[in-house]
Amino acid sequence: MLQNLKAQPTDKILALIAAYREDPRETKVDLGVGVYKDSSGNTPVMRAVKEAEKRLQAEQSTKAYVGLAGDPAFSDAMINLVLGDTIPRDRIAAVATPGGTGAIRQAFELIKMAAPEATVWLSNPTWPNHPAILKYLDMKSAEYRYFDSETRGVDFDGLMADLSGVQAGDIVLLHGCCHNPTGANLTADQMAEVIALMNTKGALPFVDIAYQGFGDGLDADAQATRMIAAGFDNVLIAASCSKNFGIYRERTGILMAIARHEDEATLAQQNLNFLNRQNYSFPPDHGARVVTTILNDPALRADWEDELNETREGMLVLRKQLADELRRLTNSDRFDFLAHHRGMFSLLGTTPEMVEKLRADHGIYMVNDSRMNIAGLNANTVPILAKAIVDAGI
Ligand code: LMR
Repeated sequence: MLQNLKAQPTDKILALIAAYREDPRETKVDLGVGVYKDSSGNTPVMRAVKEAEKRLQAEQSTKAYVGLAGDPAFSDAMINLVLGDTIPRDRIAAVATPGGTGAIRQAFELIKMAAPEATVWLSNPTWPNHPAILKYLDMKSAEYRYFDSETRGVDFDGLMADLSGVQAGDIVLLHGCCHNPTGANLTADQMAEVIALMNTKGALPFVDIAYQGFGDGLDADAQATRMIAAGFDNVLIAASCSKNFGIYRERTGILMAIARHEDEATLAQQNLNFLNRQNYSFPPDHGARVVTTILNDPALRADWEDELNETREGMLVLRKQLADELRRLTNSDRFDFLAHHRGMFSLLGTTPEMVEKLRADHGIYMVNDSRMNIAGLNANTVPILAKAIVDAGI
């Protein structure tokens, strides 16, 4: 049987992890996978997470199953973190999922069950796993323009032109904040225009929010998601705790489905529970419980927010340092966009050949679409990267 299998495409982001590990050069710089690193290159366990884990270890008296939707307290805490009080709780169905990816997968499956004919519209570019999962599920997808390779900002005219082609019932996947891979984000006014256009067309939104707190702050980063939540009868939201709680390997995420009213939410909840049961039964609990402990304890929450803010501000400093250094070296403002982008990533906007040249000549690893993980930099590597960009003639 196994001989009938075909080799599957490797994920271009994850392939970089192995390639970087095997590179013997001491000066190599890893700007690949989206994992936060401090100035010494470590991905620390956040203080509040350590403390919450200590409490759990001392207090948890059972590891028996929870429910198919996970711990209800986790759903409540995450709904509050992402949506504030924008939507009444009884309109929202929610399940814990294995990370943000698990939530995306469940959302696509829910769409397939509820609207098998719908096309799912993805920004071009987007996180490569969005189209990969859609293809795996044999679902229809289309692209809307997103990135202006001249300004390295959002191609808003292109986006609106492409989204004017959506059909009633189609789903538009929007990044809640910190667009991955570009780092370029819609303004609130632009998002309002997108919402109005989608409503005119009868399309529905699916929001992927994986970097809340990495852009302009926890509430600022949730603003677009809250606008979208308030702007439609039905909204799907996949949220990840991997990055903002630094619990990547615990696989902690949530899928929310906003319904028109309580009865519809109950039906959605029953379907989400069913999907969890079919795919993996009960969602992972440890990370979810850590998150709930932190969000519900004022002191732990304040400490978590402080550390998250330090992380966010550290990335903004790196962005500015890199843009300033490139300004100095090129005597131009061509790279100022790096300081305007938000979140963990920026798309440099160069060719795969140039990306390969940076790797071969300078040991700098970024995704072949030229996505850089800004958190992979530090004060020492910023000048190395800037010089390499200039030397390569980008
Ligand atoms: C990324 O985009 O690098 C992260 O979301 C990690 C992943 O799973 O791809």
